[in-house]
Amino acid sequence: MVEILHSNISELAQWRDQALLGGGPERIAAQHSRGKLTARERIDLLLDEGSFEEFDILKVGRGGPGSEEDSYPGDGVITGHGKIDGREVFVFSQDFTVIGGSLGEGHSQKICKVMDLARRVGSPVIGLNDSGGARIQQGVDALAAYGEIFHRNVHASGVIPQISCIMGPCAGGAVYSPSITDFVFMVEHTSYMFVTGPNVVKTVIHKDITAEELGGAEIHAEKSGVAHFVYPNDILCLRAVRQLINYLPSNNQQKAPFLDLNDPPERTDPTLDYLVPSNPNQSYDMNVLIYSILDGAEFLEVQPHFARNIICGFGRLGGQTIGLVANQPAVLAGVLDNNASFKAARFVRFCDAFNIPLICLVDVPGFMPGPEQEHGGIIRHGAKLLYAFTEATVPRITVIVRKAYGGAYLVMNSKHIHCDINYAWPTAEIAVLGPRGAAEVIYRKEIKDAVDPEALLNEKMEQYRKTFVNPFLAAKRGYLDDVIFPKDTRHRLIRTLQFLESKKSPRPDRKHGNIPL
Ligand code: HXC
Repeated sequence: MVEILHSNISELAQWRDQALLGGGPERIAAQHSRGKLTARERIDLLLDEGSFEEFDILKVGRGGPGSEEDSYPGDGVITGHGKIDGREVFVFSQDFTVIGGSLGEGHSQKICKVMDLARRVGSPVIGLNDSGGARIQQGVDALAAYGEIFHRNVHASGVIPQISCIMGPCAGGAVYSPSITDFVFMVEHTSYMFVTGPNVVKTVIHKDITAEELGGAEIHAEKSGVAHFVYPNDILCLRAVRQLINYLPSNNQQKAPFLDLNDPPERTDPTLDYLVPSNPNQSYDMNVLIYSILDGAEFLEVQPHFARNIICGFGRLGGQTIGLVANQPAVLAGVLDNNASFKAARFVRFCDAFNIPLICLVDVPGFMPGPEQEHGGIIRHGAKLLYAFTEATVPRITVIVRKAYGGAYLVMNSKHIHCDINYAWPTAEIAVLGPRGAAEVIYRKEIKDAVDPEALLNEKMEQYRKTFVNPFLAAKRGYLDDVIFPKDTRHRLIRTLQFLESKKSPRPDRKHGNIPL
């Protein structure tokens, strides 16, 4: 009996040792030579030291005794749970050194197990993807295995934060799991994502293109909007995931963790009184305001390279995580276009799902005009942002810094779509149209018949500006709760967040709304 026990213990040790070696020293060396870390090294960097507890280290693929799959305990993915700054998270990390990290039945079952556990206990799930895709030898079973993951991604959406890091290949239908998750991280030059690869592109449309050009990190960060964060290497990428997790609650029943950065709530910034230029056509950088008001000037921008005319990201005010959405007048004058609208809409919905209050800083001249935007669906995309803000039940606060014109004024978390508290700076311009557009419409006939049309237009613009282009009309109507001094913005926001903390807003009795996707 004692002998059996001892032999089992040594067999277990042997299996574990073998599992720790993944695909073996040669393949590990090849992984390193590409500038990539191994699946285990990544987990070590992601989690608090020594906190990782592994599941299913002995699980093998379905190939049966003697098969290639049978010789790799762990089946090409490492799964388990551990801590990030003391808070529990669940992890899976695909091991490219084992059959190319390809996903078969056992591999998928391991991922599904941690996803199910994460949902049951209410902790985030982080996937480190590095895989050749569906394990070809398993045929339709490998496809079924992906389907099980997609199903769980969808049902965990809005319940626990789901984060994907793309740290190698991610191709074909495999891309749909990360794309359903809340945030996609990519690593420059070693990761790519596409539905059909360069070979298929060549065959079907006779175009030569590299994997990097088709679906590298830069493309997804700047053009497609698939990637939310991009980093030059695995180490920086994993460090950033830790940073993001620190802003988020573990699940949709909790509030985000409070963190005191020792920044006095009553701190004022007199330089903000001079932020908005006196010339309304001159731009300025909205980041100056953002970094000035947030605790410790710490801000994690989401999709910083995509639709740069709108800024989305996480920061803290008075220790509380907030989601910030701000027009950026320094890029395309801060106009709302298709990409800006859907970028912000998705961010707003994430914050709402996870109890993160929304702060909206407005300087928007309107929606981008032109056939490119209209034909690209500005009606649908703009409606997404309108819908997202309107349905959000988390505390919502808006500060109109300068321009807030027309439909864009309404969409950017206005009082009329039931934002809780709306402030404006004295520099705010709230009207249906800008002075030129308005004067040209209202006084078209008079201007046409004038001896000096340009002089009359300028006179009418000035008249319009004095009467309509200010925050005071809206304040008189009660559409603004106050016109505040710019220097006091931080303090006013923190006080407002404090009283809104206990906000309750019952949701309508329906299965779900029909957001214009
Ligand atoms: C089985 C695979 C595999 C796969 C790679 N391998 N991908 N085994 N199924 N999908 C194996 C290789 O045979 C090789 O084994 C090892 O992993 C490493 O692969 P290499 O080709 O040597 O590596 P590299 O040169 O870096 O090329 C990586 C790669 C390439 C670009 C990912 O392996 C590749 O093109 N793989 C096939 C990709 C693919 O078509 N997948 C299906 C996509 S469709 P040895 O023993 O030689 O080391 C899909 C659908 C999902 O995934 C659908 C969901 C609905």
